Amino acid sequence: MSEEQKLYEGKAKILYTTDDPEILLAHFKDDATAFNAQKRGQIAGKGEINCAIASQLFELLEAKGISTHFIDRPAPNQMRVKRVQILPLEVVVRNIAAGSLCQQTGLPLGKVLPNPLVEFYLKNDALGDPLLTRDRLLLLELATPQQLNQLTEQALRINQLLIAFFQDCSITLVDFKLEFGISSSQQLLLADEISPDTCRLWNQAETDPDKRVMDKDRFRRDLGNVEDAYQQVLERVLAAL
Ligand code: TMP
Repeated sequence: MSEEQKLYEGKAKILYTTDDPEILLAHFKDDATAFNAQKRGQIAGKGEINCAIASQLFELLEAKGISTHFIDRPAPNQMRVKRVQILPLEVVVRNIAAGSLCQQTGLPLGKVLPNPLVEFYLKNDALGDPLLTRDRLLLLELATPQQLNQLTEQALRINQLLIAFFQDCSITLVDFKLEFGISSSQQLLLADEISPDTCRLWNQAETDPDKRVMDKDRFRRDLGNVEDAYQQVLERVLAAL
């Protein structure tokens, strides 16, 4: 794995090339941002915790037939991944109303949705990651109609698997964001990460709407104890495997 070169630095990860052109190394950072990077900070130990959680979740999903970019975790905050062309889409799945769904529709926080909601957002910081309609997504040629169906199907399947797994952790999966990429062999792979940065996770042992939060909303909303919450998610994930 010589010849490492920085390929891309994002808000939470740095991607390096390796001596294999099909494999990248992702370094998970402790940096945290929210509200399109208007709020910035650090969460001590986040890189290692998120790398560990994401690795376990990718392995679990792979074992259930979901194709992901995950290869292995050579160091606590490093993940080897298959190189993909990331689709410029954020695929959000919601089971319970929270966040922008409440802000934009007036649905009350915590309302259980009758069916999971799958949404697509344009990955474009300059435009503020706007919510897309199906027709806008096709208009912009961000995915083919077949890919769109496949993304929706995959997102719903991943949701079922993650709901069941987090239930074993006594955690409610409120909502989460996925990113997908296309491999050199044109395969659609789940990419990026699944972690407390990208999910809303509520501790089932708590009913207080602030105390139950185990995810990045603690950072977004200055609820405190961010590191403890992330660590607690990791411990529960490891115990439930
Ligand atoms: P939202 O309610 O703010 O639209 O967020 C929905 C889910 O997506 C929530 O679990 C947080 C996650 N998310 C990200 O991972 N990255 C983002 O940039 C945003 C806006 C949300």
